[in-house]
Amino acid sequence: MRNKLRFVHRGEIVELENIDPTETLLNYLRYDRALTGTKEGCAEGDCGACSVVLGDLHDGGLRYQAVNACIQFLPMLDGKEIITVEDLKASDGTLHPVQEALVAANGTQCGFCTPGFVMSIFAEMHTGRTPDRGHIDNILAGNLCRCTGYGPLIQAAQDIARADLRDQFHDRASATTALLQTLQKDESLSLTGADRHYFAPKTTDELAGLLERFPEATILAGATDVGLWVTKQHRDLPCVIHISQIAELRQISEEKNQLSIGAGVSYSEAWSQLAGYYPDFGELIRRLASTQIRNSGTIGGNIANGSPIGDTPPALIALGARLRLRSATGTRDIALEDFFITYGQQDLRPEEFVEKLFVPLPDGNSRFAAYKLSKRFDQDISAACAAFRLTLDGSRVKDIRICYGGMAGTPARAHQTEKALIGTEWSVASIEAALPMMAEDYQPMSDMRASKEYRLMSAQNLLKKFAIETTTPGVATRIVGAGGLAYA
Ligand code: FES
Ligand code: FES
Repeated sequence: MRNKLRFVHRGEIVELENIDPTETLLNYLRYDRALTGTKEGCAEGDCGACSVVLGDLHDGGLRYQAVNACIQFLPMLDGKEIITVEDLKASDGTLHPVQEALVAANGTQCGFCTPGFVMSIFAEMHTGRTPDRGHIDNILAGNLCRCTGYGPLIQAAQDIARADLRDQFHDRASATTALLQTLQKDESLSLTGADRHYFAPKTTDELAGLLERFPEATILAGATDVGLWVTKQHRDLPCVIHISQIAELRQISEEKNQLSIGAGVSYSEAWSQLAGYYPDFGELIRRLASTQIRNSGTIGGNIANGSPIGDTPPALIALGARLRLRSATGTRDIALEDFFITYGQQDLRPEEFVEKLFVPLPDGNSRFAAYKLSKRFDQDISAACAAFRLTLDGSRVKDIRICYGGMAGTPARAHQTEKALIGTEWSVASIEAALPMMAEDYQPMSDMRASKEYRLMSAQNLLKKFAIETTTPGVATRIVGAGGLAYA
């Protein structure tokens, strides 16, 4: 194993050793490198002031993605290229086309938010897409300006999207790719000190072996949750195992009428396939986080952390997804709903890890819908999240799976309500008759997101909304936003 962190910056390979494995990338940039253009706003992945761009090799090409440096740990840079706002100016001092566009559109904001906006638009420019207005809203949703100066920023992003621009990063793409290919050949990273361990295995066998040795280790994927344990809770993590270098866990494939999603697949990587089969699932992924978080966070992590308010588990449980758990001694498959035992407790042994997830593909007979209720529209935690899969036999309910997040200590199905509906005529009237059963299924709690009364009533109303959408599809039940997107 290798004990030096290696990454690409400004066209060269940088090597670091004797580092604190849970130092954030933001602190490294600001305090160790004096690259203070990248700012700290919230230190929890919400505001985007700390946005930087990471380059890696993906599907045979060079990929640039914006991430939040405040909740990335420094060793997660291993094998990647880092680009900060300081790197955008040309060597002769000429502003980058994104910076020029912001100046021209009068979109320069304060020193806290502007660097993050620049990096988000820069990353989008390098996707090769021509984003429409709705997509630009998505790109900028992870960069908060408290002063609401979004009009000129949207204008600048649109101007960039319309122009076919090249920059110095395009010009040196082959050289960067060659450097990243060199790094790919490196051995696995192992940073071990007297009281700290950080491992980044490259195979699942290696991971299983490490978990056998260090069953108390913290498994790290995108750090969108674990990062906050350090920045907000000031927790000490003596042993961390990062799984994102394991190619087997980064696979997404279709096999036997199901989608197989590795535990290290990011939301961004799974998004188009899930949205293609289940448009409401795509909408959930769009709303559960910013672009920066979607680029880092994983669906496997959203499951493994066991949160009762994670947004993907209700949808996955309604679809009948299954999990594969693995350890050094073998694998076992379980229904996802059985993984969540009670609040804070999952069916995962210390030496086990989530390997992959199997999501059934649409069978042509079922309808699926998902709805997210939160105080803020973009990237907010849900007060309640609902998902339904309905199978009819003629006009009668043959099968229905109803699952909510935010209604219990775990994502949980409404078994009593399901039972009351099976065999009945699928209509708003029969839903209304079954709704009282939901009080048997759930005794939600009150917190800062919603009262228990609000949660129960809105959960009932979301089921009614699903009935209206499936029985009278012409009725407008969704808000249509600036980009023509229909919001759940
Ligand atoms: Fe706010 Fe990183 S500082 S997202
Ligand atoms: Fe920077 Fe509003 S937060 S201008």
